Amino acid sequence: MSIMESKVVFIGAGNMAEAIVSGMVDGSFCAPEKIIMTDVRPERLADLAREYGVSTSTDNRVVKDAEIVVLAVKPQAMTDVLKGIAPVLRKETLVISIAAGIPAARIEAELGGNHRVVRVMPNMPALVGQGASAIAAGANADEADIEVAETILGCVGLTVRVKESDLDAVTALSGSGPAYVFYLLEGMLAAADKMGLDKETARKLALKTVEGAARLMEDSGEEADVLRVKVTSKGGTTEAAIRSLDEAGVKEAVIQALIAAQKRSIKLSR
Ligand SMILES: NC(=O)c1ccc[n+]([C@@H]2O[C@H](COP(=O)([O-])OP(=O)(O)OC[C@H]3O[C@@H](n4cnc5c(N)ncnc54)[C@H](OP(=O)(O)O)[C@@H]3O)[C@@H](O)[C@H]2O)c1
Repeated sequence: MSIMESKVVFIGAGNMAEAIVSGMVDGSFCAPEKIIMTDVRPERLADLAREYGVSTSTDNRVVKDAEIVVLAVKPQAMTDVLKGIAPVLRKETLVISIAAGIPAARIEAELGGNHRVVRVMPNMPALVGQGASAIAAGANADEADIEVAETILGCVGLTVRVKESDLDAVTALSGSGPAYVFYLLEGMLAAADKMGLDKETARKLALKTVEGAARLMEDSGEEADVLRVKVTSKGGTTEAAIRSLDEAGVKEAVIQALIAAQKRSIKLSR
């Protein structure tokens, strides 16, 4: 069955679910009347129904008629949610989880059967259609199930396939990744302020610099270090800046930061 004809239920109508639904509706991948969003907050649901024309419910048991269920609650809420839907969820329903750190095997076990589960690690730029999502199949999911997840997440950006065991690394790289870029921007903009640049001008220049650097690396196919050397002339301003970063051990700190995020993801998933 195509996604167009499928009834898709999103459990947890937070930021990520809204981003994905917005992309699905915009891209005409799914008619709004085929989408049901559930949440514990009726006022949130009313806003989403008004904005996207989707159906809503405060009762997660609406999954009983669904072909696809997207689990989009925080990991801490997952056990309660799974307990609530397990008695009514049909065996044929595909379950897609975007929750960080919850193994497919745990979802399958808590649903009490052999459900097809696909895990996805999206990231925050999905809110503006520029997300990066990694998709991993659980033990019972097949090629068609992964393609369904790719179609849904493809509405809000790039998708790649990974092994489930790689999802902790993906969480550290792209799941948490936007925060590292914001952190760098905090420093760049604080410096711009110190140097007396007008806030709006600095913001525009810094954002275009991040976007442009990413685009240049993508389009040129060059490695980051090669491009860095290209923009660093001997005895110039960039060289002074990079030397300062090297002296402060910034590259090693970034490596350690991602390893810390991966370790945390592994710990949370236990
Ligand atoms: N945001 C990111 O950058 C990001 C990146 C990668 C993965 N993820 C994953 O995406 C998932 C959702 O994240 P989010 O940022 O969208 O979270 P969120 O904004 O907190 O959304 C979760 C929603 O679920 C609601 N909820 C809580 N318990 C529920 C229940 N029993 N039944 C139905 N709805 C319930 C919450 O209501 P209350 O607020 O009232 O509890 C909230 O509206 C998480 O598992 C997270 O790990 C997020």
